[in-house]
Amino acid sequence: MIARLVVAALLTATPALAADPALLKRGAMLSMRCSTCHEFAAGKPNKVGPNLHRTLGKPAGGVAGFAYSPALLASKTVWTDASLDAWLERPTAVIPGTKMAFVGLPRAEDRAALIAWLKQATK
Ligand code: HEC
Repeated sequence: MIARLVVAALLTATPALAADPALLKRGAMLSMRCSTCHEFAAGKPNKVGPNLHRTLGKPAGGVAGFAYSPALLASKTVWTDASLDAWLERPTAVIPGTKMAFVGLPRAEDRAALIAWLKQATK
């Protein structure tokens, strides 16, 4: 929980960190764990999971044409730094019944790097 708050604080309070090349490189490596199921760029199709282009900062479940689980749609989640961090740590704990079959990233540093990369890759 403390690690989560620190990560969220770092991500929001330190723009320089989000642009750190080493952090982004680590995030890009970690994104390979997501890219079997997700595209990130505009115009790409939904795969097993929705295309994540422009999903950050928005309410969950907003990608047209993707069949979300009822659990995700009912969750009323908004994808902030903090909610993404919790989701990527253990998706099934944040939204029980989600159909995102991903166990989670246990290390706070990994999640911070991946979220920094996602912000660039999906904007
Ligand atoms: C095995 C396939 C799979 C993997 C691997 C996976 N996801 Fe997902 N993801 C999904 C599915 C399916 C959903 C839709 C979940 C639902 O409807 O309950 C989803 C939903 C999401 C959402 C919510 C999108 C929205 O429109 O609200 C985010 C954000 C997300 N995934 C990020 C990630 C990231 C980042 C990774 C890599 C660490 C990842 N996912 C790995 C399948 C996957």
